[in-house]
Amino acid sequence: MSSPRLEPGSSALRVLVGVSGGIAAYKAVELVRLLKKEGHSVRCALTRAAGAFVTPLTLEVLSGHRVYQEEYLAGDGSGEELHITAAEWADVICVAPATAHTIARFANGLADDFLSTTVLAFDGPLVLAPAMHSIMWRQESVSANVARLRERGVTLVGPAVGPLASGDVGIGRMVEPAEILATINGLQEPGPLAGRRVLIAAGPTREALDPVRFISNRSSGKMGFALARAAVARGAAATLVAGPVSLPSPPGVERVDVTSAEEMAAAVRIAAPQADLIVMAAAVADFKPTSVRTSKIKKSEGGLDSIELERTEDILAGLRAIAPKAVIVGFAAETDDLLSNARSKRVGKDVDFIVANDVSRADIGFEGDHNEVTVVGGDTETRFERQSKSALAERLIDHVSRALVDRERQPA
Ligand code: CTP
Repeated sequence: MSSPRLEPGSSALRVLVGVSGGIAAYKAVELVRLLKKEGHSVRCALTRAAGAFVTPLTLEVLSGHRVYQEEYLAGDGSGEELHITAAEWADVICVAPATAHTIARFANGLADDFLSTTVLAFDGPLVLAPAMHSIMWRQESVSANVARLRERGVTLVGPAVGPLASGDVGIGRMVEPAEILATINGLQEPGPLAGRRVLIAAGPTREALDPVRFISNRSSGKMGFALARAAVARGAAATLVAGPVSLPSPPGVERVDVTSAEEMAAAVRIAAPQADLIVMAAAVADFKPTSVRTSKIKKSEGGLDSIELERTEDILAGLRAIAPKAVIVGFAAETDDLLSNARSKRVGKDVDFIVANDVSRADIGFEGDHNEVTVVGGDTETRFERQSKSALAERLIDHVSRALVDRERQPA
């Protein structure tokens, strides 16, 4: 489950179609037919429950290959580890329908049948077409599993709204096979940021007092990591300079781990001249201790009664000089006078946009999964309502990318 996009160019793909056990499994037959018609090579893997809805023989005849079923996990007697060879063979794995149970298994890294084991052994794009009753789709547990998979770069197509197997009408229907085919084909198209380099700094910094103590802040890095993920999903080459956070690297991102403001400044300075878009989402410490003690400060010495601090370098304010043509975006975490502070920061630091968020509110900001911001530009101020950080990251990257496109259109 890694790169969300394939190298553009090669049109015929090797697609492993996984089918899990829901009534929409009958539509997987049509999906296999469409994929083959388009010139893709197809192999199929059925979960045990899927076998009750669709026969392996149908899929075998359509795909022209034996169908992997649960018993293949033990091998077929050839000595081959079939889940590994299937994962190596596939350019894309598409699971349609993906039931709530199968989504939960993938989100939690379970490997309890042929399909889940193959998905775990797979390092390429994974496309899921969920299908379940609306009540199940809306469950917090399902939403959390879906969010987790999205964060890892998994593409979800659907579900759609319409009549459900239960007779109810609502969200939960699997999308039509033609839409799944279009999503798979779309993985090969260059994204809107193809050929662009994006630099993102995220997370807090730590300023050491002695070998065991430091000054830091509450930034989780979630917003910056989501921005890097959104940039890669749009085809950009992304460098993520990350302060100390416990977040996994978004797939396809070049990550540089740093600890202090000074290290962050150095890493940003190296990457900035090549970047077309720079986003400073990091909560860089504004102050650091004037000196770092080499041995642990003892209580008995009274050495922590007061700490002498000095200013750190303002990384954002120095970017225009080293990346004059880049679109530069800063963040402003404020508790008072949000917009007027953001406006003066934009001008003072000579940047294109300031993303202003109100950190005094408990329902958005630092450690949470949601955020609400206003993006202050030179002649626009755009409000983005409270939403998940992943969804907001996508909107923000699209918003600031438009300035990049406009700038590139201007005569040199
Ligand atoms: N920033 C930076 N280097 C610093 C401090 C901040 O690059 N040493 C960047 C942050 O990454 C953010 C922006 O500047 O994009 C605004 O940071 P913020 O702390 O909100 O503002 P400050 O300029 O530090 O002003 P103040 O703390 O007085 O509000």
